[in-house]
Amino acid sequence: MSDGFLHKYFLNNSHKRLHKWVHYFDIYDRHLERFRGKSPVMLEIGVMGGGSLAMWKEYLGEGSRVIGVDINPECKVHEAPGVEIFIGSQDDPAIINAIFAKYPEIDIVLDDGSHVMKHMIASFGLIYDRMKPNGVYMVEDTHTCYWQEFGGGLRREGSFMEFAKHKIDELNAVHARGALPVAEFTRSTDSLSFYDSVVVFERRRQGQRQAPITQGL
Ligand SMILES: C[S@@+](CC[C@H](N)C(=O)[O-])C[C@H]1O[C@@H](n2cnc3c(N)ncnc32)[C@H](O)[C@@H]1O
Repeated sequence: MSDGFLHKYFLNNSHKRLHKWVHYFDIYDRHLERFRGKSPVMLEIGVMGGGSLAMWKEYLGEGSRVIGVDINPECKVHEAPGVEIFIGSQDDPAIINAIFAKYPEIDIVLDDGSHVMKHMIASFGLIYDRMKPNGVYMVEDTHTCYWQEFGGGLRREGSFMEFAKHKIDELNAVHARGALPVAEFTRSTDSLSFYDSVVVFERRRQGQRQAPITQGL
């Protein structure tokens, strides 16, 4: 049961700039609570005022490592103990490789970067398969998937929302009777959750499928 830490932290924040939609806090708690106090490694794409990195560090607790990546070099000032910031674009393989070279075991990713479709899809492609097997990949502010200026549009091929919808089929590929190849995504993904402006991918190796029948006397 959540103690409401994140929302309280947000409301009482008098430190670095922090900008979040209030309904995100329940979503964060639902998917991230299990990592608290377990020394996870979290990568947030998009640092801006540094407030969210500080919040994640407090939330995840001692031993956690919080990494930020941002295209703006000024974000570097938001580094702190346990908080490291890489400067570069979220779709640049070199910067993502540099992050994995130093932090090979990433548990949580939150994409709050450019919110541009091709960047969101590129980051997912560069990161998802390399995360820890029980990790969580969250993308927020996905309302931009419906906005042309971000490369989005309702049911527009190339929007992150369409990309995520296709992933539902990939998740179920073993049942598609060969119509869809069983991909690494199929084998490594447990669930997708769609919320207002947030999409969450929960990783977990898909196990042996069993459908036993039980019956009373
Ligand atoms: C919405 S803000 C991040 C807010 C922060 N996560 C928070 O909750 O307070 C988006 C950030 O993404 C950064 N950004 C924009 N394009 C980017 C890109 N291609 N790669 C990485 N960061 C980018 C911007 O410089 C900006 O700081």
